[in-house]
This record gives sequence, C-alpha cells and structure tokens, in this order.
Amino acid sequence: MNQVKLSESVYYVGAVDWNTRDFHGYTTPRGVTYNSYLIVDEKVCLIDTVKAPFAQELLDRVSQIIDPAKIDYIITNHIEPDHSSALPAVMERAPQAKVLLTEHGRTGIIKHYQKSYDFQVVKEGDVLDLGRNKLHFVPVPMLHWPDSMICYLTGEQILFSNDAFGQHISTTKRFDDENDIHEVLYEAEKYYANILLPFGKMVVKAVDKLKELPIQTIAPSHGVVWRKHIPDIVAKYQFWGQGKTTDKIIIAYDSMWGSTERMARQILDGVAAAGVTGKLYKMSTADRSEVIRDVLEAGGVLIGSSTLNNGMLPSMGALMTYLKGLRPTGKVGAAFGAYGWGGGAQNAIEEMMKSAGIAVEQPGVSLKWVPDEAEMDKCFEFGREFAQKVLARI
Ligand code: FEO
Repeated sequence: MNQVKLSESVYYVGAVDWNTRDFHGYTTPRGVTYNSYLIVDEKVCLIDTVKAPFAQELLDRVSQIIDPAKIDYIITNHIEPDHSSALPAVMERAPQAKVLLTEHGRTGIIKHYQKSYDFQVVKEGDVLDLGRNKLHFVPVPMLHWPDSMICYLTGEQILFSNDAFGQHISTTKRFDDENDIHEVLYEAEKYYANILLPFGKMVVKAVDKLKELPIQTIAPSHGVVWRKHIPDIVAKYQFWGQGKTTDKIIIAYDSMWGSTERMARQILDGVAAAGVTGKLYKMSTADRSEVIRDVLEAGGVLIGSSTLNNGMLPSMGALMTYLKGLRPTGKVGAAFGAYGWGGGAQNAIEEMMKSAGIAVEQPGVSLKWVPDEAEMDKCFEFGREFAQKVLARI
C-alpha cells in the first residue's frame, strides 16, 4: 500500500471514500476522506479511526507499519460515526489499547457501540508522554459535537484538528501543496459553511488558543493535510468565526409561473447597478450546500418565493429550515415574491429569516400575478437600495 508520512513519527492511515455524495444532507461531489494518523514513538498511538466500512483499510495501513496489537493508545477526538464507527473493529485487533477521550466522548462511545473499553478521560491541559514527543489535549466542545477535541504533538509540531480545517475532497495526494489549492480552499469554505457555521464563537476561541502553538502541520480528519497554506486557512477561520462578510449578495428564489423569477433577475440588476457582486440561485435546481457556501461570506441575503397555500414554495422552505439551523451571523436580508390573491410567502420568509438571525431591516417587495413596468422598476430600486445598505455595513 502507498505509505504516506507526515513527519518522522507520524503516518497517514485513513481512507479515501471516492463515492459518497451525501454527507448527512451536505452534497459532496468530490467525495469524502476519513483521516486517521498513527504515531510511532516509544509508545504507539492511533489518532481517530474511520467510518466502519473502511476499518479493514485502516487496519491494513497500520499493519504494514506495525502490528495493530502494539497500539498503546487510541485517541477518540470525536464520536461522530465518520471517525469512531471503526473503533470496535480496531479494538478487536488492539485489545490492550487505552482509549483517550473527553467525558462526553466516553459516554457517547458506550451509547453508540454498547461497549466499554479501557477508557482514560482527558481534559484541557492533560499531556500524554509518547517518548520523543508529547501529546497535549485541547477539548473544543461543539467543534463539532459536545465531545469534540483536538490534540497537539510537540516536537514534530502537528495539530490533529479533527473536523476543524477539514474539507470533503477525495484525492490521491495527502498535502495541500500537492493539490489545486483553490479547489482545497473552496471545499474548506463549503465544509465550514455546512458544518461549522453555527459554532463561530467556539471557532474564534479555538483559533486564539492555537496562536500560542508553533504549528508545522495541521492534520484534519477530513481532506488534505495543511503544511504550506496554514496561515491562509487559519485567517479564513478567523474571518468566518467572527461572522465577517464581504460586499456580496445572494439571491435565492423559486418561482411558480415565472413572475418571481422575473423579479429576482430585476433585483439582481439593481444590485449590480450599485456595484455589488450578486449571485442568483433558483432553489428548484440549485444545490443547497453550494448556496450555503456562497452565503457564508455574503453581507446580504435576498429570498424570494411565489406564494403557495399562503406560504412559501417547498424548495424555499427547505432552504430556510437549513439556514435557520446554521444561524449565520452579520447578515441583512429581505424577501420578495409574487402572489395570486392573499399572499403570505413574504411574511413567512421574513419570520424564518429573523429566526435564522438575519436582520430584516428593509421592507420586502411583493406583487400580484405578473409584474408590470412600474413594478419592475420597483424591483430594480429594491435591489439597488438593498445593495447600498450592504455596502454601508462593510
Ligand atoms: Fe467529521 Fe463531526 O464528524
């Protein structure tokens, strides 16, 4: 098997899943990776496992380096099954291994697998002596679950960051500088937007802690390993974690008979006339995960829907439910759409926007049946005014 080393003592022993296209509702057109790392020091330590169907691949990769029975420690940084569901299979081959994890991790592993291992609960400041290197534990609750933890290897200065700094991308090259960095950063942005967006405050806290450490390598549990572009991805995490935005406006809509679509295009023209970058997504055809990636840095979000049964179209309901859960910060929004008689979509969208944490400061625009010339002018002005407000906030 192709053997990849991160440093003198650290090997890549994870698996590349080229075929997964849906990661709990997040589309992954470039596939997924489940990264696991083996530290062979005076003690042998496995950092995380992989998703259960790839357990044998992990064990095969370990076996070509060392007998799995010689693993002294397994660090479970996160109990989500993409990282822990191979643990039972690994424990069968490494029954003497001690499993180090947070208290939330311990209860989670027992509940997930109905198995109890030789657990050692660790907390912030705890250190594991491996010989030449030491492993420091840093719990980072809610990056991405309450049990989440990262750990730092002294000496070789590697941060095992678990979900943080990850990307869903399948490649045969394991390092950032061996890949198209624009593709990697694009996937890192999409990953942050779809997985970590609700946890910005925790991201900022974690990044502040990391500033104190000399880091040569960031080894996440998904995607490529960072060794050249560390300052770029850390700066991005600070920007996103602080909820900062750019002068970009996302217009997401769906249309029953074409009127809301005409409105959307006219509003976009008004946005462009104000000198702001606009992006248009029709939700009956757009990929929700991609839209959310674009929303991450957008200063403004305009949501449009025809009225259906006094509410919004189902495609828009799905987007708004997803957005509400992700709780973006630092954004303004407004609603628009056409109706036939009573209306209702605009109010429903505004309520959902507010509950998603988006500031609704500008009245929306709605119109009956088909826009006439005056209404088209109104849509243009609506877009231009909204864009000017976004610009004023940057
Ligand atoms: Fe990659 Fe939250 O698991």
